[in-house]
Amino acid sequence: MLKNKLNLYFDAKNLSGFTFKIFQKLVSSQFTSLLKNKIERMSDKATLKIDGQEYEFPLITGTENETAIDVKALRAATGGVITIDPGYKNTGSCKSAITFLNGEEGILRYRGYSIEELADKASFLEVAYLLIFGELPTAEQLEKFHTDIKSKSIVDEDVKKIIDAFPKNAHPMGILSSLTSALVAFNPSSVNVDSDEEMYNAIVKIMGKFPVLVAWAMRKIEGMPLNYGSKSLGYVENVMKMMFEKPNEDYEINPIVKSALDKLLILHADHEQNCSTSTVRIVGSSHAGLFASLSAGISALWGPLHGGANQAVLEMLEAIKEDGGDTKKYMAKAKDKNDPFRLMGFGHRVYKNFDPRARIIKKAADEVLNDLGIDDPILDIAKGLEQEALNDPYFVERKLYPNVDFYSGIIYRAMGIPVEMFTVMFALGRLPGWIAQWREMRLGKEPIGRPRQIYTGENLRAFKTINNR
Ligand code: ACO
Repeated sequence: MLKNKLNLYFDAKNLSGFTFKIFQKLVSSQFTSLLKNKIERMSDKATLKIDGQEYEFPLITGTENETAIDVKALRAATGGVITIDPGYKNTGSCKSAITFLNGEEGILRYRGYSIEELADKASFLEVAYLLIFGELPTAEQLEKFHTDIKSKSIVDEDVKKIIDAFPKNAHPMGILSSLTSALVAFNPSSVNVDSDEEMYNAIVKIMGKFPVLVAWAMRKIEGMPLNYGSKSLGYVENVMKMMFEKPNEDYEINPIVKSALDKLLILHADHEQNCSTSTVRIVGSSHAGLFASLSAGISALWGPLHGGANQAVLEMLEAIKEDGGDTKKYMAKAKDKNDPFRLMGFGHRVYKNFDPRARIIKKAADEVLNDLGIDDPILDIAKGLEQEALNDPYFVERKLYPNVDFYSGIIYRAMGIPVEMFTVMFALGRLPGWIAQWREMRLGKEPIGRPRQIYTGENLRAFKTINNR
């Protein structure tokens, strides 16, 4: 009996959309003949039946009535049973008070404020403060936050030697991740998270230095001298100056570009437990420092299925244009299961409705291109693809809608940002979210992240000497 139990697992793959009124079998097919496991809603607890034995687990309900089964005691209570859920499609890793996301209804809120209102009315720095500290700042708090950030923005001159050593064609995400990691070496003392002051100092330090690294990553690939911004400028204006200023010209801030960039950074600022944020939390859970955790998050963001999609979208749109603009051909490729091509910028793990950020960005793309007088055929191709996908049964049935990255690259391109930098811009926007999540995890004294597994390899076997293999 005990042996049976130790080999069992509770398969949570099909729990999506679970209502708890439905009686559901949750055991993988290989164990179905052996066992009958079931779970049902009983007020504030769930009952799991394994091999005739019932176990009760509490249900946790969030402030937006999301429900989870708290399985913390599962393994100990059952003598070794675990849950398995590749890709964590049904598994919550933490409780969090930062971002609320409802993918079915297309809702996104930071600390209770709708993304639409924040993108319309707030600045990126206000949103950063909101995410990290939980409330919108007063004018005084915002001023102090900005002043402290500026006072910590100088990066050690020796960091420039590291940049020198990178090849000119290095991807700026690789540069950014390495430089963020290098900040650990230049700032070796670990943060005492129980000290508000030390925590605050670490936060303003990275908020100050990160935009410099972002700008330097771009200037490296463009062969431009590494520079600093100006203390008199706002946070986003300063980023723009550092990125775009030429050594032989005075840089003038274009208010249209500034407003669009502010909006883009706000829209990317947090997205609850996505791949990179979960990475930041899990790396930080080993008590690795903030900068080291962020560097890991940057690497996770780089992948084309995550933040790297914005670069992939633009490259895809360019390829379609070069190929004569035949969107139907690419729609067919996306639907062909024998073709690895996917419509980049479409689909989302959580949104099964319009990504609310995509709506805002689409409108902003129209405005920026109009205001700057740019006629970009890529935008027409993107709109054409979107229309076709929204009316195509393949995309409709799978609930594949444009995501945040579908239109962002078009704006970045209009701003004069090279395509390799798109994911770096995403990282710049996501920085406050990562910081907020890392801080919440450390202040919440979360245990080290260490998932379990179901072993499917060889059983014990005798070693064979090399001549007998
Ligand atoms: N083009 C064509 N088909 C797609 C696409 C797409 N972009 N996305 C999903 N599908 C199909 C899959 O082939 C699958 O079909 P099937 O049921 O017939 O096998 C079904 O839709 C479900 O797809 P999954 O990959 O299982 O969904 P998952 O939630 O694991 O993946 C993801 C979500 C990775 C975002 C996926 O939709 C994708 O690869 N999109 C393109 C990349 C992209 O835009 N990423 C950015 C996401 S936003 C962000 O990270 C900031």
